[in-house]
Amino acid sequence: MDKIKIIGGKPLFGKVYISGAKNTALPIICATLLSDEPSTLRNLPILSDIKSLNLLLEQIGTEISGKQEELNGHNTQSFTYHTPQPKSLVAPYDYVRKMRASYYVLGPLLTKYKHVELSLPGGCAIGARPMDIHLSSLEQMGAHIEIKNGYVIADVEERLKGANITFHSASVGATCNILMAAVLAQGTTVIENAAREPEIADLISMLCKMGAKIEGADTSTLTIHGVDKLHGVTHEIINDRIEAGSYAVAAAMTHGRLELVNANPDHLQLPLDILRKTGAKVEITPNSIIVDAQNCELVGTDIYTDYYPGFPTDLQAQFMALMCVAKGAAMVTENIWENRFMHIPELMRMGANINVHGHASAIVRGVEKLSGAPVMSTDLRASFALVLAGLVAEGETIVNRVYHLDRGYETLEEKFKAVGADIERIKESDV
Ligand code: UD1
Repeated sequence: MDKIKIIGGKPLFGKVYISGAKNTALPIICATLLSDEPSTLRNLPILSDIKSLNLLLEQIGTEISGKQEELNGHNTQSFTYHTPQPKSLVAPYDYVRKMRASYYVLGPLLTKYKHVELSLPGGCAIGARPMDIHLSSLEQMGAHIEIKNGYVIADVEERLKGANITFHSASVGATCNILMAAVLAQGTTVIENAAREPEIADLISMLCKMGAKIEGADTSTLTIHGVDKLHGVTHEIINDRIEAGSYAVAAAMTHGRLELVNANPDHLQLPLDILRKTGAKVEITPNSIIVDAQNCELVGTDIYTDYYPGFPTDLQAQFMALMCVAKGAAMVTENIWENRFMHIPELMRMGANINVHGHASAIVRGVEKLSGAPVMSTDLRASFALVLAGLVAEGETIVNRVYHLDRGYETLEEKFKAVGADIERIKESDV
C-alpha cells in the first residue's frame, strides 16, 4: 500500500484549484440511469470512488466514454453515460463493499426497471451506517423489499407510487435515493425532513434539467411530481466544499496564505466563521476564498457537527487537527456519526493533547508543537487530518493506508507540493 511522507514546518502559499464534488458526482452519475438517452457530466473529480462507480455502472450495462478537459482553469474529466438497456439489475457485494455510495443505483433502477438487487453495504470505520430510511421510504411508495443473503431485493409491480414520507433523520443518502425514485413514480411524493446539503441542490438541478418536476430545493420539504420519462442532459458538477474546507485548514494551520480557486463560500459559511474565530483572515473574491494566517495566533474554537447548514461532520477531523496547535482549549462534538474519533489516538501519537468524553465529545488543548510519527489512516477525512498534522509537525510523518485519501482528494500531493509543502508519495513498489 502507498504511503505519504511529509516533512513538517513549511507555511503554504499559492493557489489550490478545488475539484468537482465527489459526494455530488456519485448520486448524479447514478441519476443518468433514469434516462435511456446519454448524459454528459463535466467537472468530475479524478478519484478512485468515481472509477469504482463507473465499473459498477459498466457491469449494469452503461456505456461510458470519457475525456480530460480544462475547465475553470484546471484539469478535469468529463464522462458520457448511456444506458439504453441494462444487462443486469444487480449491484454485487464486491462493488458495494469497495464503495458504499454504490447504493445510489437503488432508487433509479427500481423506479425505471421495477427490480433491483443491491448488496447491503454494512457499517464502516465511522459508524453503523444504516439504510432503514431508504428502504422504508421505498416501501411506502409501494415497493416490495426483502433482505436475503446480504442483499436488498426490491420489486415493484407497475410503478412506484407517490407518498408522503417523513425521514427520522435528515439523511443525505436517503434524500438522494428517494428523490431519484420519486421523479419517475406515479403521482406526487413529499419528503419531510429532507437533507439540505448543497450536493442535493445540485442533484435536483440535474434532475430538473432532465425533465423532473421538483419543488423546494434547499429546503427540508421536497415535493416531487412524478413524470413518465426523463431525457439526457449535460451537467457540470459543483465544486467540492469539503476539499475546499480541508485546504482552508491547511492554510490556517501552517500560518500561510492559500487562495482556494473555484471554492463556493456559500457552501462553507460555518467552517469559515470558525476559521475567522480562530484568528485566520478569510477573504471572499468572485471566484475564490483566500485564507491568510500569516503572523496570527490561532485560538481554540468549539465545533459541533450537525446536518447542513450546520458544521459538516466531514470537516470535523481536519478542524480538530487545527485545534491541536491552537492556543487554549476547544470542545469538539460529533453529532452525526457514532464512531468518528478514530483519528484521535493517531493525533495523540504526534503529541496532541486530547481528552475524549463519552463517545461524542472531545476536549482538545492546544500544544506548542506536534512531532512527526508514522500514523495510520482510518477513513478518508481522518487521513487528511493526519496529513495536516504532519505539515506542521517537527520532523517526518508517514501516513499509511493512503488509499483512503485517493478515494476523495484529487492529486493531493501535487496540490500540496505546488503551494510549498514537503510531501511525497512512497509507492508500494518503492518500499
Ligand atoms: C453522506 C456523505 C458522508 C457524510 C454524511 C453526513 C456521501 C457519499 N457521503 O453520507 O461523507 O459524512 O452524508 O453528512 O455523500 N441514517 C439513518 N438511517 C438511514 C440513513 C442514515 O439512521 O437510512 C443516519 C446515519 O446513521 C447518520 C445520519 O443519518 O447518523 C446521516 O447519514 P447520511 O446523511 O445518510 O449519510 P450518508 O448519506 O451515508
